[in-house]
Amino acid sequence: MATALHSVFLFLILSLLTTIISAHNITNILSEFPEYSQFNTFLSQTKLADEINSRQAITILVLNNGVLSTLTDKQPLPVIKTALSIHVLLDYYDPQKLHQISKGTTLTTTLYQTTGNAQDNLGFVNITDLKGGNVGFGSAAPGSKLDSTYTKSVKQLPYNISVLEISSPIIAPGILAAPAPAPSGSDVNITALLEKAGCKIFTSLIVSSGVIKTFQSAIEKSLTIFAPSDGAFKAPRLPDLNKLTNAQVVSLIEYHASPDYIPFGTLRTSKDPINTLASNGAGILVLTTTTAGDSVTLHSGLTSSRIAETVLDATPVVIFTVDSVLLPTELFGKAPSPAPAGEPVASPSPTPVLAPSPNESPSPFADSPPAPPAEAPGEVPADAPSDDSENSKSDNGNAGPVMVSPVLSVLLTVSTIVIFFIILS
Ligand SMILES: *[C@@H]1O[C@H](CO)[C@@H](O)[C@H](O)[C@H]1NC(C)=O
Ligand SMILES: *[C@@H]1O[C@H](CO)[C@@H](O)[C@H](O)[C@H]1NC(C)=O
Ligand SMILES: *[C@@H]1O[C@H](CO)[C@@H](O)[C@H](O)[C@H]1NC(C)=O
Ligand SMILES: *[C@@H]1O[C@H](CO)[C@@H](O)[C@H](O)[C@H]1NC(C)=O
Repeated sequence: MATALHSVFLFLILSLLTTIISAHNITNILSEFPEYSQFNTFLSQTKLADEINSRQAITILVLNNGVLSTLTDKQPLPVIKTALSIHVLLDYYDPQKLHQISKGTTLTTTLYQTTGNAQDNLGFVNITDLKGGNVGFGSAAPGSKLDSTYTKSVKQLPYNISVLEISSPIIAPGILAAPAPAPSGSDVNITALLEKAGCKIFTSLIVSSGVIKTFQSAIEKSLTIFAPSDGAFKAPRLPDLNKLTNAQVVSLIEYHASPDYIPFGTLRTSKDPINTLASNGAGILVLTTTTAGDSVTLHSGLTSSRIAETVLDATPVVIFTVDSVLLPTELFGKAPSPAPAGEPVASPSPTPVLAPSPNESPSPFADSPPAPPAEAPGEVPADAPSDDSENSKSDNGNAGPVMVSPVLSVLLTVSTIVIFFIILS
């Protein structure tokens, strides 16, 4: 009897936990509804799902597969991403709230507004109480019609996420007719874009090493590039690129790219290590991220760099510039052992060594003494042109624990309850 009770409690607790942990997973929510499978697939492909999962108080206006196809047929992914981001409202609307809009009409912000590409109210949706109890939706852009109406509630997790079905797509003027916000897929001229973005040195390395071919074939599927700016190559303590073998240059460049589509929103929210083109699926030569507010920093183990700018986000290709060259530990030596916060790095050998070819050059570092002096306590390393690109060497700025702790505390609370019940019964 007691055992049965335990099982019941455990089952209840476990299902509660599952609900809590997956509460914000839109992919999971929609997977229960085959009629929205296309909508769900597009949310995943465009990575809008990551943005949705990272926000609280959000409403998704879904379209069933038949209706959605009228919107997405023959459209390239970047256009679909824009169109769907207009269907993500940055506020929580359940059916009740929809019918209680003050003065019967309101404008609400959408995810599209956050991209910075929306002009003329294109990033807002007009919600209006229509006659006969209907609720109409339309673009807030002047001259738009409210020809989409609320049809039914799909799912609510108050007050975090609400999924509502609407009758037809909300189409902001110009979104579908206009050429894609950026060329998509194989139309992208990587070298031209990178040169224009101030990454001439990186571009010439891509071309001279032949990695451009790898990039061009990756672009057909998905590709993310983290291109160091020209300033990044002027930083002291960089290996002398002329002394690297071609294989090392190839690895170094491939380390600055991922075979996945990782737009900024995903970079900001995902805690998973980033597979690079240099990783070859072996789990090494990965990058990790930390987030502070809206700023994302990449870490190689040896060096760190802030994401400076998004040059291109055209699903499934994204190109960022970064402030510093990312040196993979596997190629350039061991990571300095993380010093406890506030203590000087006293370790005698944080000096990176060129592992693969020790005979080539005793000092792979161009403009610096063979052994960089240990950093003074609390001092920001002065080796990068940009102030904030290298200031979290030991991953102390990790935002992970902050995000994880609510789940942990729930786990702890629940375990306490379980133990309490077990003792009781
Ligand atoms: C829902 O949002 C509130 C804050 O608005 C937050 O405290 C809570 O953890 C969220 N619940 C879930 C299940 O994510
Ligand atoms: C969301 O759910 C899907 C399918 O249910 C799963 O594959 C995915 O890993 C989940 N994502 C997160 C961030 O938990
Ligand atoms: C929403 O659209 C309707 C119809 O075009 C308009 O009358 C109303 O003023 C709009 N609402 C807001 C808040 O702009
Ligand atoms: C890409 O742009 C560069 C100029 O930066 C040009 O030389 C090259 O021919 C272009 N490649 C393609 C495939 O259009």
